[in-house]
Parts: sequence; structure tokens; C-alpha cells
Amino acid sequence: MIGANGAGKTNLLEGVHVATQGFSPRTRSEARLIRFGSDATRAIARSHARATEVETSVTVHRLGPKEVVLNGAPAPLDDLRTKLPVLVFLPDRLAVVKGGPAIRRTYFDRMLGRVSPELAELPGSYAKALSQRGAALRRVRDGLAERASIEPWTETVAGLGADLDAARTAVTDELGPHFRDASEQLGLRGARADYEPSAITRGALEDRLTRDIERGTTGMGPHLRDIRLATDEGDLRGFGSQGQQRVAVLALLLAEASCLRDRDRPAALLLDDVLSVLDRDRRAALVSLLAGATQTLVTATDADDVLEAGCVVEVVQGAARIA
Ligand SMILES: Nc1ncnc2c1ncn2[C@@H]1O[C@H](COP(=O)(O)OP(=O)(O)OP(=O)(O)O)[C@@H](O)[C@H]1O
Ligand SMILES: [Mg+2]
Repeated sequence: MIGANGAGKTNLLEGVHVATQGFSPRTRSEARLIRFGSDATRAIARSHARATEVETSVTVHRLGPKEVVLNGAPAPLDDLRTKLPVLVFLPDRLAVVKGGPAIRRTYFDRMLGRVSPELAELPGSYAKALSQRGAALRRVRDGLAERASIEPWTETVAGLGADLDAARTAVTDELGPHFRDASEQLGLRGARADYEPSAITRGALEDRLTRDIERGTTGMGPHLRDIRLATDEGDLRGFGSQGQQRVAVLALLLAEASCLRDRDRPAALLLDDVLSVLDRDRRAALVSLLAGATQTLVTATDADDVLEAGCVVEVVQGAARIA
């Protein structure tokens, strides 16, 4: 996809993401998706890529909830993510590498849902049980309930927490070799994604019950763990240059795409301005990494950059046409 600065390339990419994933990859404030002066926006996507046709429509209103329609029927937002894996790269989004642990947990938990759809609800179920246990802990602290009232939540949190630890370990193990390979081809050696499980058990939670009651929160579990992204030189979060951090973000995405391909659930890739952030050799490496991969949408300002593309879309003043 080519076009001048401000032509609307990122907008179009964002539209594809909204239609297929149900939310914007670049803003939390959904009102910003809506054209200045309008009340709503709708993104529609049709796919004929596989034997089964898929059509989605996502409507965002300035006021009121979002509407998601999948193949003609209203659907929950999460259905989109598990049914239509789409991975997006935005050059200014380095938070997964640079940001705090919470961002990485969210990122990897979403990945978990795409790679293993049967586990898509696990992170949410754990978070819900955790908040219910927190409420129970605070009721006991405030003298409104007996200690025994916490027990069922301790059991649930321990069970779901151990499941989430295991799932994160499995997904990082599966991702690891692909992450290393993709990083290496893009010039970053020895890249790793390591998860150290929290070792949550019912017994461990019971041992710290008094402290948890005092604090009113559960003080151990996967909600407090990090996924460490590093190379032989150290933590990417601390030492990585901007360029290395971008490569790591891109390599994570390519690694996940490989995991999905291995599982016969190929993802579409949306890569915004990816060529401008790579030097010449790495561009060539990326092109070969993408060759024969899945469907990929790449934006660029310069037509020369996308010579290998199967189809070139030109974007001029917000309108797109096949060149
Ligand atoms: N809610 C909105 N309503 C109307 N126009 C908007 C809205 N949000 C952004 N725009 C405009 O859309 C235009 C296209 O922006 P976009 O980021 O898609 O361009 P681009 O082709 O990706 O440019 P670049 O090459 O600089 O990244 C911008 O001029 C921006 O001001
Ligand atoms: Mg752009």
C-alpha cells in the first residue's frame, strides 16, 4: 500500500484492524476513529482467502456500545480475535518491549488466545477470580466476613493461576525458537522470551493469607509476573536501542505468525511503515521472511519499496485504489 504522508495509509490499515479485531491498534479513545463531525464509523471486511467466506462489520458509535457482526449475526468482540488472527506492527508502538510488565502480560495473554483459542478465556477468568478474591479479602479485613469465606476463591485463583502459568510457559516455549530465528535474520542475535512461572498453589496462597488480608489483594500469581525479552547482551527493555527494540517488536510478531502457521491457523499481517524503520539488509531479510508466508499488508511512501508486492494499492487523499 503506497501513498504520500497523510494520504490515509495508516487509516486504512487501522480500518482493517478494526473490522477484523474489533478495536483500534493505535488509540484507546475510540471516538478518534470517527470522522470529525460524524456520529459513528463502520469498518467492514470480507475475506475469500479460505474455503469459508468470512464477513465482519464493526460499528463504533460516539455514544453507546460497539456493534460487532460476524457472518450476519451479532457476535462478542472476542470471537473476532480468535476466529480471524491478524497481527499488526506500528512503528511507534514499542511498549511491549519498552514498557512495564503489565503491557507484556496483556500482549502475551492476547497471543495465547490467538495461538490457543481454547485458552482465550483463561486470562479473563483468572482476572475475574482474582478480583473476587480481592473483594473477599477486603471484606474479611473490614470485619464484614469470616476468613473461611475466602477459601473458595483461594482454590479458584490457585487453579486458574496455575493454568495461566502453564499456558504462558507453553506459549513462550513455542514462540522462543521462532523469535530467535526472526530476530537473528533481522540482525538481532540471541533473542529470547522467557517466562518464569509464579508457582502459585493453594498452599502457597494459604501461607500468605494474613498478609493478603492486610493488603486486600492477592500478593502472588501470574498477574505479578513478567515475560522477559532479552538478547545475549541483556534485557531489551533496558539496553536495546530504538532500532533493536523495533526489530524485537517485529520479530515477536513474525514469530507468532510462524506459531499460527504451524498450527494451520495462518494470520494476516498488517505492517505499517515497516520498511522505513529497517536498514537495507534488514529490508531484504524481511522480504524473504514474508515470502510464501501469509497475507501481508505493508504500507510505504515509496513505490520502489514494495516492488515484491503481489498487489499494489495506491492511497490518495483518503481514497484507495488498486494500482
Ligand atoms: N477522525 C478523523 N477524521 C478525519 N480525518 C482524520 C481523522 N483522524 C485522522 N485524520 C486525518 O487522516 C489523514 C491520514 O492520516 P494517516 O495517518 O492514515 O496517513 P498516512 O498515509 O499513514 O501518512 P504517513 O505516511 O505520514 O504515515 C491525516 O491527515 C489525519 O489528519
Ligand atoms: Mg502512516
